[in-house]
Amino acid sequence: MRTEILHLLKKSRPVPLSGEAIARRLGVSRTAVWKNIRSLQQMGYAISGSPRRGYVLLQVPDLLYPAELTARLNTKLIAPALSSICHLPSADSTNNVLKKMAEEGAPEGTVVVAEYQETGRGRMGRSWSSPAGKGIYYSLLLRPEIPPQKTSPFTLLAAAAVCQGISSVLPRLSPGIKWPNDVLLNGRKVCGILCEIKAETDLVHYLIIGIGINVNTGPEDLPPALRDTAISLKLANNGVEVPRAAVAAAVLQHFDELYQEYREKGAAPLLDRWRAYNVTLGRRVTIISPGDTFSGTARELDQEGALVVEGEKGKKRRFLAGEVILA
Ligand code: BTN
Repeated sequence: MRTEILHLLKKSRPVPLSGEAIARRLGVSRTAVWKNIRSLQQMGYAISGSPRRGYVLLQVPDLLYPAELTARLNTKLIAPALSSICHLPSADSTNNVLKKMAEEGAPEGTVVVAEYQETGRGRMGRSWSSPAGKGIYYSLLLRPEIPPQKTSPFTLLAAAAVCQGISSVLPRLSPGIKWPNDVLLNGRKVCGILCEIKAETDLVHYLIIGIGINVNTGPEDLPPALRDTAISLKLANNGVEVPRAAVAAAVLQHFDELYQEYREKGAAPLLDRWRAYNVTLGRRVTIISPGDTFSGTARELDQEGALVVEGEKGKKRRFLAGEVILA
């Protein structure tokens, strides 16, 4: 009922809506309306109420509530309903929370979003700085029926969705992707993606795609070691605050569309979309993979999403995972 009241207040604003009118529309008592309005106020919605004029929604909090995301979504596979999104004020890591839910049978498309992560995790065992209310920290659950060897395109899909989402909300910014899935703005990292998978030898049980985006993060919110290499949407947007819910929803929407396209047509169109944003191909790179470091020129992204790097004397090597350092 709370979501329905919120929806009515949003549609009516700036015109006030009386408690009686809301109660009539929803077929509930005025006391129930009043209780739900109070609960919305406690959640941070600024709602003025006067006995004569009724209720007006004055301000929506900058929080990633499921109702704020689904109001902006028209998706089939990712967060298809309000109940597909689990919102937490704080989590150790949204990937960890979603992993537990996946083990208990959560369906494909489930999303866990947190305002703050105590121990946000990055790739290669690193941590992910997750200051409260400043970034977007969420994880998506997928259950594709594929072997584990075919999961590389999903990390690329996530990166392309983040770029499309950022561009749709902030068209002046030009995000780029450093292989496989670091999203950069002005050469600095604005988003990281951590894909984790549970699989048997020939079948994936589930995939968890964790996405962290620095949105209104200021330099003071970042660990000193990252201040020269990281950026936020706000910093790239001339210091102007960016609505987190709009970005979070736009990325989910694009993720959904790319995933539908992948299911209908396979990985090829998706890899082309990735290539359109890439800032890796044609560049001198050093690639660090477990137990190995290799330098050369990044030549292509093959049909499986692997990076082909040409080293000395034209010797080519193919990488399915690793960390790229751009020269
Ligand atoms: C990286 O670039 O190293 C990947 C960073 C991934 C961070 C996100 S934030 C949401 C999700 N939960 C985590 O603990 N990590 C991912």
